[in-house]
Amino acid sequence: MDIGPAAFPVAERSLAVIESAPVGRRYHRLLLDAPDLSARSRPGQFYHLLCRDGAGNGPYLRRPMSIWRCGAGEPLGFLFHVKGKGTAALAGLRAGDALSVVGPLGHGFTLDPRWQRILILARGVGLATLAPLTGAAAGMGIAVEALLSARARSDLMAAEFAGASGAQVTSVFDEDGSSDTARVEALLRARFATVRPDAVFTCGSNRLFLLLQRLATEFGIAGQVALEQQMGCGLGMCFCCVRQVRDAEGKVVNLRVCAEGPVFDLQAALAW
Ligand SMILES: Cc1cc2nc3c(=O)[nH]c(=O)nc-3n(C[C@H](O)[C@H](O)[C@H](O)COP(=O)(O)OP(=O)(O)OC[C@H]3O[C@@H](n4cnc5c(N)ncnc54)[C@H](O)[C@@H]3O)c2cc1C
Ligand code: FES
Repeated sequence: MDIGPAAFPVAERSLAVIESAPVGRRYHRLLLDAPDLSARSRPGQFYHLLCRDGAGNGPYLRRPMSIWRCGAGEPLGFLFHVKGKGTAALAGLRAGDALSVVGPLGHGFTLDPRWQRILILARGVGLATLAPLTGAAAGMGIAVEALLSARARSDLMAAEFAGASGAQVTSVFDEDGSSDTARVEALLRARFATVRPDAVFTCGSNRLFLLLQRLATEFGIAGQVALEQQMGCGLGMCFCCVRQVRDAEGKVVNLRVCAEGPVFDLQAALAW
């Protein structure tokens, strides 16, 4: 089942903020009232957000943001790292404020109904992008095992990731060295050798992407990666978001993350 086809028509809409709240020390979540958009948004797709605070201050260009929560009867949700001007303006929004969004955009993740289990490897706020996959997989009877990597325990957003999906989560941290690449590799090898997933998914770290790509090749496991790139239009017109990707013949080609991505085959994507 393709859970992430490009969803047209793409709408520019002004949506009411239902909830705006900090998550831990560095993150923030926004829930928006958009029943129709939420119902046709798919895990792995994104929206282009006009980041203006309640007073109308913020950068000119929209900022791309993955769908963190979506689905019939659900608010449309975003979970983000408050990083610069745009995300600070977003974090300044309050319930009842309006936010201009364009989307849903891009191609999301694909889940095969024949799969029995998947493994998700996420680092930092990359878990926001992968979070809706847990609910989609659970809805198809696919078990989810996740390995979440964060700087510190206080940065981990396990509840924001798994929701009520029942995903089995293991966490590793920089602060105690458990997120070290060699230790994560040992964990993954142990899992792949015992309960081999049908597919693996990742987002948020070049280092973990390369590790997963290498292990997925070795163990013959399919995979997908959600890439990030700074964007201009978000609609496929300006080509400022191109990344190098291998095509079916292995030739390196430039593809637009906003239009051909942001989700790519794990083996097709190249390191950044
Ligand atoms: C498809 C897609 C989905 C995304 N989903 C999420 C998400 O769910 N949650 C989240 O926290 N972030 C997400 N991002 C990243 C997010 O778009 C940027 O963090 C945001 O644009 C920063 O805007 P700003 O104005 O706050 O920071 P700026 O002032 O523009 O930049 C602050 C710093 O962040 C860097 N930066 C800006 N944009 C990006 C980017 N796209 N990738 C890497 N570094 C960047 C800048 O180089 C600079 O160093 C996503 C990006 C893409 C392309
Ligand atoms: S952001 Fe303009 S083509 Fe991708």
